Amino acid sequence: MTALTVQELTGGYAAADHVVKGVSFTVASGELVCVIGPNGAGKSTVLKLLTGLLRPRAGQVALDGRDITGQSPRVVIEAGMVLVPQERNVFGTLSVEENLAMGCFLDPGRAKARMTAVMDRFPLLAERRRQAARTMSGGQRQILAMGQALMSEPRVLLLDEPTAGLSPKAATDLFALVRATAETGVAVLMVEQNALQAMQISDRALVLVDGRNAHEGPAPALARDPAIRRLFLGGRGEGRMDATGTNRETSP
Ligand SMILES: Nc1ncnc2c1ncn2[C@@H]1O[C@H](COP(=O)(O)OP(=O)(O)OP(=O)(O)O)[C@@H](O)[C@H]1O
Ligand SMILES: [Mg+2]
Repeated sequence: MTALTVQELTGGYAAADHVVKGVSFTVASGELVCVIGPNGAGKSTVLKLLTGLLRPRAGQVALDGRDITGQSPRVVIEAGMVLVPQERNVFGTLSVEENLAMGCFLDPGRAKARMTAVMDRFPLLAERRRQAARTMSGGQRQILAMGQALMSEPRVLLLDEPTAGLSPKAATDLFALVRATAETGVAVLMVEQNALQAMQISDRALVLVDGRNAHEGPAPALARDPAIRRLFLGGRGEGRMDATGTNRETSP
């Protein structure tokens, strides 16, 4: 069943209003879709347009068939879609438990039951329940941020570069948790710079270039496509991409 439907989404910022220029995709319940593309392609902007942090200029966003285009962040969360931003996604001075409780601010009565469910899923959070978030590793904080997002029982989970800055081991562990979260029936849309690894664990991939859909397809197959590898992975599949879609580390 399609959970998230995005049609011709268009928008940007007051200072740069033509960033996202007509992006369309769907994510089904239980499906993991990754969004990859060069720096500045508009990936994070798409996530802001979906969650009410920016108001779209045109296009439609529907959650379980309900139009939520241009709604406030609060309405979007209540409708069942939560974003884990790349930066500042947990409260450093608060404990794991307190951070999780913040994820249930719209329905505090449910916090206790939800916390048990989230800690069952991510045992690390139970072990460290009283630890301040700022004393945790980057990988542990990303797990906490994901746990906090799951406190509201979203049907759609949006992740912006969850593995940025993590060690290869921590990134692999986090990808496994993202995959497991999708398996529970949540529709997951994950923006990633680690393109090859993201495609390997995703069901489908969407490549954004200059604010538009550039390629789309079943993710493991797309990762093997020589054209995609040449264009977006520099033939090696490592490293980040520049604005033309070529790989900085392997380009002359
Ligand atoms: N707050 C802002 N005000 C004005 N322009 C912005 C703002 N944030 C981003 N932009 C511009 O919008 C474009 C797309 O930015 P966005 O952050 O969506 O890219 P991205 O695909 O997420 O890139 P990255 O891979 O670096 O995270 C860029 O040209 C950027 O300079
Ligand atoms: Mg970004």
